[in-house]
Amino acid sequence: MDHVTGDATNGVNRHADAANDAARHADASRHAHDGETELSERPCALVTGASAGLGRAFATRLARDGYDLVLVARDAVALERLAEDLAAAHGCRALALPADLSSSEGIARVADFIDTTRVDVLVNNAGYGLRTSLLDTEPEALAASDSVMLTAVTRLSWHAAHRMRARGRGGILTVSSLAALGVYGVYSAAKSAAMIVTEALAAELADTPVTVTAVLPGFIRTEFHERMRVRRTGPRWIWLEPEQVVDAAVRDARAGRTVSVAGAQYKGAYALLQVLPRPLVRGASGGFRWMRKGAG
Ligand SMILES: NC(=O)c1ccc[n+]([C@@H]2O[C@H](COP(=O)([O-])OP(=O)(O)OC[C@H]3O[C@@H](n4cnc5c(N)ncnc54)[C@H](OP(=O)(O)O)[C@@H]3O)[C@@H](O)[C@H]2O)c1
Repeated sequence: MDHVTGDATNGVNRHADAANDAARHADASRHAHDGETELSERPCALVTGASAGLGRAFATRLARDGYDLVLVARDAVALERLAEDLAAAHGCRALALPADLSSSEGIARVADFIDTTRVDVLVNNAGYGLRTSLLDTEPEALAASDSVMLTAVTRLSWHAAHRMRARGRGGILTVSSLAALGVYGVYSAAKSAAMIVTEALAAELADTPVTVTAVLPGFIRTEFHERMRVRRTGPRWIWLEPEQVVDAAVRDARAGRTVSVAGAQYKGAYALLQVLPRPLVRGASGGFRWMRKGAG
C-alpha cells in the first residue's frame, strides 16, 4: 500500500506497505493541521462518483494501497455497501459521504469535510454524459452538468490544494476526458475547463510537493453509457477497463505528471488531437452522433 508524504517530488508517493509501517503512520498524524480531525493514522483519499464505474475502481485501488476512503456520490445505499466491503476486505476505514454535486449545498458539504478532516488524495471523478445535444438540453440540465463536472472540481480542488500546500504533501486527480479536446456539446466544454483548471493548479503548485493530475480517458466500460441510454458500440479495442485507467492515473500521479492518458491507442489520439487543425476536430466531433444512433 502507498502512503502520501512530504516527498519533494511526489504528492502521491510510492512507498510500499504503509499500513505495516508504524513510523510512517506517526508521520501521517504529525501532518494533521490546525485542529483537523483524521479518520485514522492512515493516509486518506476522498473519491467523488465512488458509487459506480471508475470512481469505485479508484476507491478499491486506493483501499488496497492502504488508504482510508471517503466515498462521495448521491446513492447513499451503494456508498454504504461499498464502504462496508472495502473496510472488510482491506481493514481500512471507509466513510460514505452522500452529496449531490449538482447543488451548491452538496458541494459545500464535501468542501467542509475537506476543510475539517485530513484528506491526502482528492479524486474528482463524478460525472456523466448528456444524451441530448446542447440545443436540445434544458438550461437546468446544462447548469447541473457544469456544476458536477466543473464547479465541484474547481471548488473541491481549491479547498484541498490549500490544505495540502499547508501540510506540504498531497495529490489531486481530476477525471476529465479525451472529449475535452473535441467538440461534444456541453460535456466537452465542462471537461475542457476542468482539464485547464487542473493544469493551472499543477502550474501554481509546481514548486510544492503537492501533485495535480488531469486524467483523460477514452471510452471505458462503466455504467456511463447505460446511464446515457446509448449503446456501447465500436470495435473492442476502443474500450478500456476502469482498472487500466486507474493504474495509469495512479502511476502518473506518483511520477508527478500533469496529464494521464491510459492505453496506447488513446496516447496516440491525445498526441494527434494536439496538432490537428481545429476545423477538422470540429467537423469530426459532431456531438457523438454515431453513438446516439440506435439509442434506446
Ligand atoms: N465511461 C467513459 O467512457 C468515460 C470516458 C471519459 C471520461 N469519463 C469520465 O469518468 C468519470 C466517471 O464516469 P464513469 O464512466 O465511471 O461513469 P458511471 O459508471 O456512470 O459513474 C458515474 C459516477 O458519478 C456519480 N455522479 C453522477 N452525478 C452525480 C452528482 N450529481 N453528484 C454526485 N455524484 C454524481 C455517480 O453516482 P450517483 O449516481 O450515485 O450520484 C457515479 O458514481 C466521469 O467524470 C466521466 O465523465 C468516462
